[in-house]
Amino acid sequence: MNRRMPLIAGNWKMHKTGSQAVEAAHELKSRIASAQNVEVMVAPTFTALFQVAQILKGSNIAVGGQNLHWEHQGAYTGEISAEMLTDAGCSHVIIGHSERRQYFGETDETVNKKIKAALNSHLIPFFCIGESESERESGNTFSVLDKQVRDGLNGFTFDGQANLVVAYEPVWAIGTGKTASREQAQEAHQFIRGLLENLFGKAFASAVRILYGGSVKPDNVKALMEMPDVDGALVGGASLDPETFSKLVFLITNCSNFKDDNPCQSF
Ligand code: 13P
Repeated sequence: MNRRMPLIAGNWKMHKTGSQAVEAAHELKSRIASAQNVEVMVAPTFTALFQVAQILKGSNIAVGGQNLHWEHQGAYTGEISAEMLTDAGCSHVIIGHSERRQYFGETDETVNKKIKAALNSHLIPFFCIGESESERESGNTFSVLDKQVRDGLNGFTFDGQANLVVAYEPVWAIGTGKTASREQAQEAHQFIRGLLENLFGKAFASAVRILYGGSVKPDNVKALMEMPDVDGALVGGASLDPETFSKLVFLITNCSNFKDDNPCQSF
């Protein structure tokens, strides 16, 4: 079995002005400096990206965009390209977040083009998928995930190098305080990993990190991280406060997700 480094990412969504983001970045940098065996990423708003990336340069915290356009440049008012993100200091980008699917017309097809653009610019995509409450209640969770994965990654080939991160974020758990149970999360992650194995082979599927997102908090992260296919978290609300987010980082470090021989330690 591959040993997967745990990963935690803070999606700041449309929160924090430039100066607030700068303040948070300074605080996070010092709070997280000693964290080991974990990868950390924050995704500020576009207007704060450059400043935050300057502050976090050389630290153990990577910076990501929250979206991109698939074209290099052109008459696309309000959009941002992969090259602009890398130039601002990003190494990662969130793609296909349910809020973009729900409110801004993101589809599996645009997600596919965006992942391609990100990979071409050496940005690591966080490919977001997840079912709505009604899809879960009608028993369609797996068919929804199946379609999102197949269409989102249509036409790609991946080898053992997992330069893609999958984020399973059940829509009903985002910002609602309703976290998926650890069993629900594991069942979905296992399904996604199995599908990735069918599509791209075992080496890729066992190397790829699958994060859980949806009301992750310090009091539920350990239970989720103990599950064999949960490799980290994509955190919204609880990532806005540097103290809470650093707490999550250290909780995840302690759960060091080298799943084969080092399960979570108890506190
Ligand atoms: P919350 O942690 O606020 O539920 O948001 C999750 C999310 O959407 C991260 O991308």
